[in-house]
Amino acid sequence: MKMKNVAVFISGRGSNLEAILKKRDIGAIRCNIPFVLSNRHDAKGLQIAQDNGIKTLVVNHRDFATRQEFEEKILDLTKQYSIDIIVLAGFMKILSSYFVDTFAGPILNIHPSLLPSFPGLHSQKRALEYGSKFAGCTVHFVTNNVDAGPIIAQEIIPIFDDDSEESLSLRILDREHILLPEALQIV
Ligand code: GRF
Repeated sequence: MKMKNVAVFISGRGSNLEAILKKRDIGAIRCNIPFVLSNRHDAKGLQIAQDNGIKTLVVNHRDFATRQEFEEKILDLTKQYSIDIIVLAGFMKILSSYFVDTFAGPILNIHPSLLPSFPGLHSQKRALEYGSKFAGCTVHFVTNNVDAGPIIAQEIIPIFDDDSEESLSLRILDREHILLPEALQIV
């Protein structure tokens, strides 16, 4: 079967991108990655992509008068590079229903909670404040509702009494690095 073209979208650190690249290097995922896209030029993950010989593109939403123009630019790039699948790996811009409906393939997102609990920002902190005994991460298809699409894969971890937001986030992140490549390979 022809290998799929996967575009990874990031906004920051890029540790999930790095996890995907490592799994690809050892053959656990089979895909082409024609480009990594960031909406921020200072995203650390851009360097990770470049160190792995992957093309990087920065499309800054601030350079566009409207969200639709910003999204049209990204959609043009996905067409130009024949992208089959988009992975949102810490991409901090919400894609509108226009984008989701126009892009022909699946869009995956990784979220640091057991969805449908704690969608949106600061999920780990909110899980702690709520007194949840379990946390985790979820990879799901992106639909028109934020953090609410069908779940592809999910991983559960216990919350310990002495967890801080940082310790919990780090333990979840470790699992994200396993879950996201697995989910991508499934799709
Ligand atoms: C991760 O916690 C992910 O679940 C969330 O944003 C963070 C991205 O981290 N959507 P990184 O940039 O992959 O290191």
